[in-house]
Amino acid sequence: MADTATPNVIRRADYAPPAFLIDTVVLEFDLVPERTVVRNTMRVRRNPDASHASNLELMGEQLEFVSAAIDGAPFANAHAHEHGLTLDNVPDNFELTLTSLCNPAENTTLSGLYVSGGNFFTQCEAEGFRRITYFLDRPDVMATYTVTLRASKADYPVLLSNGNLLEEGDLPDGRHFARWEDPFRKPSYLFALVAGKLVALEERVKSGSGKEKLLQVWVEPHDLDKTRHAMDSLINSIRWDEERFGLELDLDRFMIVAVSDFNMGAMENKGLNIFNTKYVLANPETATDTDFANIEAVVGHEYFHNWTGNRVTCRDWFQLSLKEGLTVFRDQEFSADMAGGATDEAARATKRIEDVRVLRQMQFAEDAGPMAHPVRPESYVEINNFYTMTVYEKGSEVVRMYQTLFGRDGFRKGMDLYFKRHDGQAVTCDDFRHALADANGRDLAQFERWYSQAGTPRVSVRTRYDAAQQRYSVTLTQGYGDTAPATRETQKGPLLIPFAIGLIGKDGTDLPLQLEGEAKASASTTRVLEFTQTEQTFTFVNVAQEPLPSLLRNFSAPVIVEYDYSADQLAFLLAHDSDPFNRWEAGQRLATRELLTLAGRAATGVPLQLDDSVVAAFARVLTDETLSPSFRELALMLPSEAYLAEQMAESNPAAVHAARQFVRKRLANALRKDWLAVYEKHRTPGAYEATPEASGHRALKNLALSYLAELDDPAEAVRLASAQYDAANNMTDRSAALSALLNASAANGGSVAAQQALDDFYRRFEKEPLVIDKWFALQATQRGSAQRPVIEIVRKLMTHPAFNLKNPNRARSLIFSFCAANPAQFHAEDGSGYAFWADQVIALDAINPQVAARLARSLELWRRFTPTLRDGMRAALEKVASQVKSRDVREIVEKALA
Ligand code: TRP
Ligand code: ZN
Repeated sequence: MADTATPNVIRRADYAPPAFLIDTVVLEFDLVPERTVVRNTMRVRRNPDASHASNLELMGEQLEFVSAAIDGAPFANAHAHEHGLTLDNVPDNFELTLTSLCNPAENTTLSGLYVSGGNFFTQCEAEGFRRITYFLDRPDVMATYTVTLRASKADYPVLLSNGNLLEEGDLPDGRHFARWEDPFRKPSYLFALVAGKLVALEERVKSGSGKEKLLQVWVEPHDLDKTRHAMDSLINSIRWDEERFGLELDLDRFMIVAVSDFNMGAMENKGLNIFNTKYVLANPETATDTDFANIEAVVGHEYFHNWTGNRVTCRDWFQLSLKEGLTVFRDQEFSADMAGGATDEAARATKRIEDVRVLRQMQFAEDAGPMAHPVRPESYVEINNFYTMTVYEKGSEVVRMYQTLFGRDGFRKGMDLYFKRHDGQAVTCDDFRHALADANGRDLAQFERWYSQAGTPRVSVRTRYDAAQQRYSVTLTQGYGDTAPATRETQKGPLLIPFAIGLIGKDGTDLPLQLEGEAKASASTTRVLEFTQTEQTFTFVNVAQEPLPSLLRNFSAPVIVEYDYSADQLAFLLAHDSDPFNRWEAGQRLATRELLTLAGRAATGVPLQLDDSVVAAFARVLTDETLSPSFRELALMLPSEAYLAEQMAESNPAAVHAARQFVRKRLANALRKDWLAVYEKHRTPGAYEATPEASGHRALKNLALSYLAELDDPAEAVRLASAQYDAANNMTDRSAALSALLNASAANGGSVAAQQALDDFYRRFEKEPLVIDKWFALQATQRGSAQRPVIEIVRKLMTHPAFNLKNPNRARSLIFSFCAANPAQFHAEDGSGYAFWADQVIALDAINPQVAARLARSLELWRRFTPTLRDGMRAALEKVASQVKSRDVREIVEKALA
C-alpha cells in the first residue's frame, strides 16, 4: 500500500524482490563528449521468487531513448518517460537490446558518465548507472558484464573497464576500441569505465596462492611522480587481506584511476577503483602526513570492498552499512596493523583515538539532529544523503563490537562463515549478524538493536567500595537521554554493550580482576563486561584497596559514559592508565570540563581563569619523554570548537572560541619554555621519511609551533614559522608553518610575513590543484579578527581565478572549510555566514545536488544554538527551502525545518 501523503519516501519495510532478473549485460559505448551512444544487450528472465508483472519497468534518467529490440526484432511497446522505460507485455525469458544517448560533457552532477579534464569517467553508486543506460538499477540484480569502448584514439588513447582486457585494436577514422570482460556477477553500481589520456605506474605481484597480478595506478601524465605511495598502499592492502582474513585478489588485474572531479573519496568498482585525486596523489612536497595516512586508509578501504561489498553485496540500500561499516572497520584495522602490528598497543591507540575523535565529533552530532537514523535506516528520500557518519563510522563500531565480544579469532570465524554462506549473493545486515552468531555459538538477537535504534546511548556508572568485604561494585545504567520523538520511536529496549573496564590501584598499576562467582582472577587486567539490561551491577571481589575505575577501555562501544570523576582523578588517569586510549580520554575529559565551564563564563561576560592544576597536568604530558610523540600530540590537542559547542546546553560558538583561545594562550604562555624545547627536540632534519615515527615528531613539533603562535608576544613564533616555511622539504612542515603565520598574525591585524608566505605558497604550487585546495582551506579556516572577519576574505577568494564551484574539491576547500570548519567566524552574530551559506547551497544545487546537500547539512543543528543565531539560521534555511530544486537538498532542509 503506497503512502500517498509522502510519495517520495522509500521504506525498508516495502522491500520486494525484482520482478525480473538480468543475467548478462553486453555494453557498447561510442564515446563522444556531447553525444555518447550506448547499446545495451541484456539477457532478461522473470524472477521465480517474485510476484508476476507483465511489464518490465527499467530505470533511466537524463537519457535519450533511441530504440528497443527483443530477441533481435524491433519492439514497439517501449515507452520512455522521466524515470525510465516501460516495456509492455514482455516474454518470460528474452534478449533485450536498447540504444540510448547521453551527454557526458554537460553532466555536472558527477553521477553517471561525465567528462573531467577532457577524459571520461563514470560514477554509478548508488543510482548512477540509470544515467548511462536503462536498467534494473538496484543492487539485488547481479549480472556479468562485457563492455566494448570505442573512441578517438588521439583523444582517448586509454580505454578501461571492469575485469580483464579481452581484445583491443584500431578502427577506421582514427578511432580504436577495447573490449573488457568481468567474470564476476555484480550489481550495476559497481560498473565503471574510464577513457582518456592517462599513464600508469605498474607493478606485478604474486598473490598468496602464487598467481601473478598486474597492478596499475592511472593518472594524468604530470602526476606520475605522485603515485608511489598509493601503489605501496595497494600492495600492503593485498597482503593484509590475505594474512588477516585469508581473502585473495580474485582478478588478474587491479586498477586504480585518479580523477580531480569527484563527489566523494573513492569508489570500489570491480577491478577498476576510481579515486578522488586527493586520495591517490602524494609526494613529500605536495602532501602532508595526514594525506599520506588518508591515502593508505582509502586505498585499503576500496580494495577491501572487493570482498566486503563486491563478492558479497547489499540486497538493498538500507543495508548499506553491511558493506560500509564492515569495510571501514577493516580499513581501520589495516591502518592500525600498519602502524603498530598486532601487539604495539600504543601505536594502535593513536589510530583508535583519531577514529573515535571523528565519531564523537561528527556521528554523535548527526545522531543529535534531524538527520538521526539507525545504522540500518528505515526510510530515505534520496539515498545519496545516507552515506553518513552513522552508516560508516557507527556502522564500523558495531562491527568492532563483534570482535570485542568474540576476540580476533572468533571474529575471523564469523567472517569465514559469512563468505562461505553468501559469496556471490546480495544480502542483509541480519545475514551478517547470523554468520557471526552461528560461528561463535551465540544468540545475537538483542544485538540487532544496534542496527535498528537511532541515537547515542548513554551509560551512567555508579561505583561502591566495601572495604570490609573487599568488594567493588560497578552499577551500569543505559538509556538515551533526551532525544527527538522520531529518534525515540526507534528505541525499543536495552542494548548488548561490551563494556571494557579496568581497576587502577593507588600506585597507578592495574589491579587483578575477579568477578563474584569466579574461582580466581583473570589473566588480563581489562575485562569486557556484557552489559545487557537497563541496569546491571557487576561486583568484583578480593579488591584489596579502593580502586579508580578505567571505564570503556579502548572505547569498546559507541556510547557516552557518565561518571563523576574529580579533576584529580582525571589527572591521575592521564598519568597512569595502562589503556592508552583511556589515558588520552582522561585528558580530554579534563579539558572538556574546564573549557565548558569557561565557555559558560565567556557567554555571560565573566572574566576567565584557569586552575594551575590543569596547566600542570598538561605540562606533565608535554614533558613526559616516555610517551610517544604522536600520543603527546593527540593528548595536548584540545577538543574542537564544534565538539565543545555541541556539549553546551545552548551552543555558543563565540563563547567556545573565546574559552578555547584563552586556554591555548594560557598553556602557551605558562609553558613557553617547554613548547620551545619540544619544538627544537622534535625537528626531523634530513630527507623526508613517511614513517609513523617521523610523522609523530612532525605532528608534535608543529603542535608546539601552533601553541607558540598564541604567545602574547608572537615575534619568536613568527621567526620560527618563517624559517620553517622557507626551509621545509615537505608539505607537512610547510603548511603548518603557514598556518602558524596566519594565526599569529590574526591577533596583530595581519602580518607581512603571513602575506608573503601565502603569496609564495600560491606561486610555488600554482600547478598543483590539491595544494591550491590547501591554500584556500588554510585561509578559510584561519582565526580572523574583528578588523578582518574571515567572511570577507572568503568572499574575495570566491572571485579568485583559481576558484571553481564546479570542482567539488575546490568548493569544499573554500566554502565547506569556512561553513563547517571555522565555527566562530561562520556563526557571526550578523548572520553574514548564513547568508553566504544559503547563496552557495542554491548555486551548488543547480550544478551538483550531492555536493549541495552535504553543504546544506552544516546548519542542521540550528535549533541547539543561542536565540539570535537560531533565528538567523532558520531564515537561511527557509530561503534555501523556497528555492531548492533537487531532491537531495530538499530532504535535508525539510528535515531541518520540520
Ligand atoms: N562506496 C564508496 C565508498 O565508500 C562511496 C561512494 C558512494 C561514492 N557513493 C559515491 C563515491 C558517489 C563517489 C561518488 O567507498
Ligand atoms: Zn566504502
